[in-house]
Amino acid sequence: MPKNILKIDFGSGYNPKRGYKTCDITYAPFLDFVYDGKQIIGCKKNKVDEFYLRNVVHHIPNLKETFMLLHHYLKKNGTIKIVEVRKEHYPQNVILDIIWYRYVIPRYEIWFSTHYRNYFETLKETGFTLKNHYFKEEKEVTIWKKS
Ligand SMILES: C[S@@+](CC[C@H](N)C(=O)[O-])C[C@H]1O[C@@H](n2cnc3c(N)ncnc32)[C@H](O)[C@@H]1O
Repeated sequence: MPKNILKIDFGSGYNPKRGYKTCDITYAPFLDFVYDGKQIIGCKKNKVDEFYLRNVVHHIPNLKETFMLLHHYLKKNGTIKIVEVRKEHYPQNVILDIIWYRYVIPRYEIWFSTHYRNYFETLKETGFTLKNHYFKEEKEVTIWKKS
């Protein structure tokens, strides 16, 4: 990747996207950035070309606050790519999250919404424009541009 291009996998977990810097809410030593709930430590305003969020939006308690934060760090014309479970599959996903985060690997600090939320409206309110939208199996993929 060219030196001046910064792409961040936000909520990268244990399976980060190749070519992207990692960022999560945990202080794991392998992370490039840490999101402490208020800021992305080590990141600067208007420096990020793309945030990639795969299976992360349903874990964000305050969508508006977090999208505003991403907006702050993105360059002019920067983008957010979101891969999220589609609405009709959401109830099954809640069951999987309960099993995974409360029983298999208990992580009580990981929040998840028990109902589907219309994050499209929140992104628009925060200053993003929808540029691409498609479905891939049980996932919905959207690309948003900072406007
Ligand atoms: C279902 S995992 C997805 C991990 C990875 N993106 C993937 O697709 O394999 C959800 C990730 O979101 C992170 N996460 C949880 N709450 C978050 C929040 N409020 N903001 C950012 N990331 C969060 C978790 O630590 C976890 O790594």
